[in-house]
Amino acid sequence: MLDKLSEIEKTALESLAHVRDETSLESWRVAHLGRSSPLMTWFSDLGDLSKDERPSAGQAANRVKSSLESAMQQRQIEIKSAVLARSLEEEKLDVTLPGRSIQRGRLHPSTQQLRRVLSILADMGFQVYLSPEVETDEMNFQLLNFPPHHPAREMQDSLYLEAAGRGENPILLRTHTSPGQIRAMREFAATNPTQPPPIRIALPGMCFRHEQITARTEIQFNQVEGLVVGEHITFADLKGTLTDFAHRMFGQQARTRFRASYFPFTEPSAEMDMECFVCGGKGCPVCKQSGWLEILGCGMVHPLVLQNGGYDPRRYTGYAWGMGPERQLMLRYKIEDIRYFWGNDVRFLEQF
Ligand code: DAH
Repeated sequence: MLDKLSEIEKTALESLAHVRDETSLESWRVAHLGRSSPLMTWFSDLGDLSKDERPSAGQAANRVKSSLESAMQQRQIEIKSAVLARSLEEEKLDVTLPGRSIQRGRLHPSTQQLRRVLSILADMGFQVYLSPEVETDEMNFQLLNFPPHHPAREMQDSLYLEAAGRGENPILLRTHTSPGQIRAMREFAATNPTQPPPIRIALPGMCFRHEQITARTEIQFNQVEGLVVGEHITFADLKGTLTDFAHRMFGQQARTRFRASYFPFTEPSAEMDMECFVCGGKGCPVCKQSGWLEILGCGMVHPLVLQNGGYDPRRYTGYAWGMGPERQLMLRYKIEDIRYFWGNDVRFLEQF
């Protein structure tokens, strides 16, 4: 009886010596420790033995079982370390090689500039106000004092979304951020129609024009509009604020000048120039020999525009401006072609 048991053990251990991987180890387990293995059958046959024989036979069987189990565990450890040794040998890794650097993303130069502008304006007490990129003709033009067929519309070739069927008020992609002035004034005025609160906001965002795409003109570009409305706001506030902005943006040495201009929604209107930072004002091809670079359009908010926004022009005055972050970058870094901004060329984008 016990001979048979040691025969079972011997056979199992011999067969285990040939096992080389996890799959055959599992088949071995099923064959030698599984339910219908000789050892387990032996256990179920214990019942046939006499009462005296049973305890010692049972003990012997248990001993064999644990001997097989520990042999199997031992084999498993050996297989694992053999697999590891083989893969270390086959996939040699030189840990002294320099690591591969991680490619870091970055913000688009326009976004960076937009944020610089907004952070300076935030320091100066301006809040950001966002308004839609898709506008009505009424918001984009009419309420800003561009009646239908007004010649000033010529300056802003527009992308209409529904040319037909909207009569006098078709939908278009905004040609400038100025319609945000009306939306903001109306929203502020709604909070207290008899005495609307003062406003000091910056309106950033993408604008669209039906332009031929060339080195100097694009169909999309960003603007940052500014709007200040309140009692006793004067042209001196406009000049002071924008000059201070130019110093914060381009340095204390930056010289500026204001030049009379025309916009339908401001009266009087002006353009702010900066002394050319390429030639220092002497005259060069960048400033077209004038010594000055145009940086933004501005003016005192037209009484009709105030009224359209719900602010009584007999009581309130205000100033506004519009400037272009891409244009600022082009001037600052002498970028000669505006198409780089939306060209998606990393060689350009990586420089910022
Ligand atoms: N909206 C004008 C444009 O896109 C820029 C501008 C000029 C905005 C004067 C203003 C302003 O708010 O006062 O050409």
